Amino acid sequence: MRLGFEGKVALVTGAGSGIGAAVSRQLAEEGAEVVIADINAEAAEETVAVIRSNGGRARNFTVDVTDAAAVERLIDFTVQQCGGLDMAVNNAGIDGARKPTADYPLDIWHKSMNVNLNGVFYCMKYEIPAMLAGGGGAIVNMSSVLGSVGLPFSAAYTAAKHGVLGLTKVAAIEYARMGIRINAVGPGWIETTLLSEHSEASGSRRMAALQPMGRRGTPEEVASLVCFLLSEQAAFITGSCHLVDGAYSAH
Ligand SMILES: NC(=O)c1ccc[n+]([C@@H]2O[C@H](COP(=O)([O-])OP(=O)(O)OC[C@H]3O[C@@H](n4cnc5c(N)ncnc54)[C@H](O)[C@@H]3O)[C@@H](O)[C@H]2O)c1
Repeated sequence: MRLGFEGKVALVTGAGSGIGAAVSRQLAEEGAEVVIADINAEAAEETVAVIRSNGGRARNFTVDVTDAAAVERLIDFTVQQCGGLDMAVNNAGIDGARKPTADYPLDIWHKSMNVNLNGVFYCMKYEIPAMLAGGGGAIVNMSSVLGSVGLPFSAAYTAAKHGVLGLTKVAAIEYARMGIRINAVGPGWIETTLLSEHSEASGSRRMAALQPMGRRGTPEEVASLVCFLLSEQAAFITGSCHLVDGAYSAH
């Protein structure tokens, strides 16, 4: 399916690895110029290099999404260097602690909330005016299957990902008549660095094997859904969360 991203500008946070890198590669393959934003400059540079070696267009920008002023500079950079902003994927995220709620460490709670929820808010805060100035756009916020169901011992991550759904719904309603569509995506267990670190620490490798499909998803399987939601093929889809979880949450 051609998604018609030729001449469009896209921004992806957390684009240095995993799902964000796969989304960036697909956006570039479909013709978009992509700003690769990540706290890890080396990883972002690698995604840029892969896209360029495949004939695509990409630039990198080092950003910590928990720093609102830095996020504002990222959007300014995108508009100035690429001529506008048509699509954004607010994907940067981190795992949290594996502790029951009463024992959950405060510092990890705040860090998880900062990256996984505040970071998404800061991005939308500056992306939306840039999109309005260009006549509209589309945003996908990366939630999780844990934005829809709870998992014991993951209070901060689960709460933040539920929060991303709330933010997505509110903003989608606010800008529905102004040409901006805003959706969330909820991946299940996906094969990325985040999961590998998580699995070694908590045994979730075993949990992933118990998923209905008997395997984890791939970053590319998430990227296909994200790119569809960003495209005109999804013109009447806004304000909703779309799972890509191999039936994990269907139990
Ligand atoms: N892997 C899974 O199973 C899974 C499941 C559901 C949701 N998700 C979500 O998908 C998103 C991507 O995760 P992934 O699995 O690709 O992980 P990943 O660790 O491979 O990639 C995350 C990227 O975000 C970047 N990042 C982290 N903190 C940042 C910050 N403060 N500012 C800017 N960049 C930052 C990292 O450097 C990294 O490149 C996350 O929001 C995650 O919560 C992942």
